[in-house]
Amino acid sequence: MLTGHRGAALLAPENTLAGIEAAAKAGVNWVEIDTQLSADKVPVVIHDKTVNRTSNGKGKVGEMSVEELKAVDVGSWFSEDFAGETIPTLAEALETCLRLDLTLNLELKIHNDVEAIPLVEHVVKLIKTTQFPIDKLLLSSFNKNALLHCQTLIPEVRRGFICEVWNDFSLDSLVALELFSVHMDHNILTPEIAQSIKQEELTLMIWTLNQPEKAQHFKEMGVDNIITDNPDSFD
Ligand code: G3P
Ligand code: MG
Repeated sequence: MLTGHRGAALLAPENTLAGIEAAAKAGVNWVEIDTQLSADKVPVVIHDKTVNRTSNGKGKVGEMSVEELKAVDVGSWFSEDFAGETIPTLAEALETCLRLDLTLNLELKIHNDVEAIPLVEHVVKLIKTTQFPIDKLLLSSFNKNALLHCQTLIPEVRRGFICEVWNDFSLDSLVALELFSVHMDHNILTPEIAQSIKQEELTLMIWTLNQPEKAQHFKEMGVDNIITDNPDSFD
């Protein structure tokens, strides 16, 4: 299985509706996007702590209202073809995924631990009010507190832990979270780590692989889902 990363970050500006569309057009069933809260507590879709890298504006996402965030252009930096693209609210992104029949790997992007609880609360509220189909959703995070809070508030939705540092105790500390999946940085995945994850009957995903020639190597290790910026380049 393949997942478009941040939409399809090599095909369209990351974390935009155009990016989600590009992932669907490339033929994937899964898409990954990042969400965090605006100053007025609206879940929006953007990766960095600030809008600086991916827009024509400047400022911290958590200090800007959704109106201010909507006013910046997140398409032109990538290509003039995408001029006028705006930061999606999570509600808009959910609608787009539903329309395109994509399964959403929603990364709860936490830059500071204190953001974990409010972000989960607002995201869960939105999932419940929009009645987004839970079988089309996976909530993922580097932040264990966020995943723990998801487990409490919406246990029926699958949870995935994003991992960039592995040690012998990693799996033990994850068992209590009753995870669906572990999402490994492909640079640190070894056959031994892959085996220990699969032994726990967890789905194994890797990020962010942009070299299609390595796909077979990872599949042989047991990788179930490859997260890539360029789903067009994989078979
Ligand atoms: O979900 C995996 C991947 O998105 C984690 O890294 O920094 O691209 O959000 P990042
Ligand atoms: Mg991400």
